[in-house]
Amino acid sequence: MGFDLMMMLCPPGVYRAQDDTAMLTEVMHRGGYAVGRHVLDVGTGSGALALAASRGGAASVTAVDLSWRSVLATWSNCRVRNAAVTVRRGDLFAPVAPRRFDLIVANPPYVPAPTSRLPRFRRARCWDAGLDGRAVLDRLCAGAATMLAPTGTVLLVHSAVCGAQRTLDRLRDGGLVGEVVERARVPFGPVMHARARMLEERGLIGDGDRVEELVVIEARHAG
Ligand SMILES: C[S@@+](CC[C@H](N)C(=O)[O-])C[C@H]1O[C@@H](n2cnc3c(N)ncnc32)[C@H](O)[C@@H]1O
Repeated sequence: MGFDLMMMLCPPGVYRAQDDTAMLTEVMHRGGYAVGRHVLDVGTGSGALALAASRGGAASVTAVDLSWRSVLATWSNCRVRNAAVTVRRGDLFAPVAPRRFDLIVANPPYVPAPTSRLPRFRRARCWDAGLDGRAVLDRLCAGAATMLAPTGTVLLVHSAVCGAQRTLDRLRDGGLVGEVVERARVPFGPVMHARARMLEERGLIGDGDRVEELVVIEARHAG
């Protein structure tokens, strides 16, 4: 992970950039996805992806998060780095609709949780995503097409534990065609470790698996 990602202001309750953040950043930079484009970072956390898009030559960057702490952290991280990022608080696309973006990036919560109830105020909101890990992802997939410019691109990162094919299917249901453009196997972090037995019992991982595959999915309007 880059030095700057580690140096981001990240108060308690705000997601500290991890392997998933770094992987999406790398794909975005390598493909030049942000260059000259109007970019939306949904679920921005500390603002890592928004900053990466800004540095990657975006024409404009907007960052959204449900958490006030994340909004403040993003605002501060962008301010001290002189990055022009507009930061909004709210649920997914609600604060920016009906504007359309050329590039939508998201590293949503995707860890299967003990209950279907989503945490409202706890730090777990960064990763808890219902029983199958798809509570936020499915909403993102369903809503992305209406927020995407006609020639725009969506880049999503998540664990294959909650199903890469299911994401492609949900994107297609929402009017987008997607493909997996990057895969990487990484050791479980602390949250996945703590839930490993639960994931085994639900058949979401094999017995003894303590490595997960992260996937980056790219999607565009169909046709
Ligand atoms: C896994 S963290 C990713 C943070 C950052 N994008 C990164 O890659 O480091 C997920 C973020 O999504 C935010 N989030 C969760 N549910 C959301 C929702 N419904 N609308 C907007 N943001 C949400 C959380 O507060 C958290 O900051």
